[in-house]
Amino acid sequence: MACAFSNTCRAVIVFIWAALTLLTVHVASATNISIHVAASETERQALLNSGWWKDRIPHNTSDHCKWVGIICDYEGSIILIDLQESNIKGELGRLNFSCFPNLQYLDLWNNSLSGSIPSQIGSLSNLKYLGLDQNNLTGTIPKEIGSLRNLVGLDLNSNNLNGIIPKEIGSLRFLEVLELSSNNLNGIIPKEIGNLRILEDLSLDSNKLSGVLPQEIGNLKSLISLSMTNNTLGGPIPSTMFRSMNLKHLSLGFNQFNSTIPREI
Ligand SMILES: *[C@@H]1O[C@H](CO)[C@@H](O)[C@H](O)[C@H]1NC(C)=O
Ligand SMILES: *[C@@H]1O[C@H](CO)[C@@H](O)[C@H](O)[C@H]1NC(C)=O
Ligand SMILES: *[C@@H]1O[C@H](CO)[C@@H](O)[C@H](O)[C@H]1NC(C)=O
Ligand SMILES: *[C@@H]1O[C@H](CO)[C@@H](O)[C@H](O)[C@H]1NC(C)=O
Ligand SMILES: *[C@@H]1O[C@H](CO)[C@@H](O)[C@H](O)[C@H]1NC(C)=O
Ligand SMILES: *[C@@H]1O[C@H](CO)[C@@H](O)[C@H](O)[C@H]1NC(C)=O
Ligand SMILES: *[C@@H]1O[C@H](CO)[C@@H](O)[C@H](O)[C@H]1NC(C)=O
Repeated sequence: MACAFSNTCRAVIVFIWAALTLLTVHVASATNISIHVAASETERQALLNSGWWKDRIPHNTSDHCKWVGIICDYEGSIILIDLQESNIKGELGRLNFSCFPNLQYLDLWNNSLSGSIPSQIGSLSNLKYLGLDQNNLTGTIPKEIGSLRNLVGLDLNSNNLNGIIPKEIGSLRFLEVLELSSNNLNGIIPKEIGNLRILEDLSLDSNKLSGVLPQEIGNLKSLISLSMTNNTLGGPIPSTMFRSMNLKHLSLGFNQFNSTIPREI
């Protein structure tokens, strides 16, 4: 090459290299931006399709990250939906749960939502808190709830849910709060509940749960509050239950336990 090793040549090569690099970065980030825009448009459309935000769009802004009850991350993807006590009516399934891959917090406490909990709830793989308490939800708890591997709090109190407590609930290893009171849940308490090693609060009051308490309930070493009143639980109270638990609150009344409270308490 004519210009081999000359300084001018080096400069030209460096310049070309720098230009190409910049171009690549530019193209990559433009691609990223268009991916982000497309993703956040899907989220915006899903909010609109629910019909829940009609009166919750301040100054008519098209930026859904500024709508009531919405928080987005820096890339414009929704991480929080909080519409508690917002007088929402209609089916919970009107919100398309397949559209919020980055959602961490969903609170719809005390509305008038009806219908069942859709199995698509399982696609909210980043969810840490799910609050659907004080609504009018029917049907069963979908087994897909077990896919919410990052869940810390699950609150389904005060609905009309029926069927069993799915054993998949035992997959929620980070769960600290599990509230299923005041529904129509029946069947036994699944032994998989013993997998919830950091569970602090378990409340199952006022359902139609039956059978004996699983021995595995003794694995819940972090439990602070346990309430199961007003079910038809029977059999003995497992003595494992009170070993090295930190229980400060325990209520088991209005059941059919047939043993005395174990000495270990
Ligand atoms: C594009 O996005 C990916 C993943 O979101 C990220 O790792 C990468 O650094 C981004 N590229 C640019 C140029 O912003
Ligand atoms: C809100 O936006 C819609 C569509 O962009 C427009 O038709 C309407 O006039 C706007 N309303 C107000 C109050 O700005
Ligand atoms: C929900 O969103 C997903 C992903 O965008 C889509 O494939 C599906 O058809 C939507 N479902 C409904 C009922 O709109
Ligand atoms: C739920 O919201 C209604 C108003 O929509 C209110 O009257 C009621 O007290 C709330 N329930 C609870 C338990 O706070
Ligand atoms: C719940 O649903 C039942 C029957 O569908 C209805 O009678 C009741 O009014 C609803 N309750 C609320 C709080 O929406
Ligand atoms: C007991 O639970 C049933 C539902 O299984 C409910 O209707 C009833 O009000 C509850 N009773 C008390 C005292 O909470
Ligand atoms: C308590 O109930 C269990 C199962 O329902 C039964 O196997 C056991 O014999 C009963 N124990 C007493 C002391 O009645």
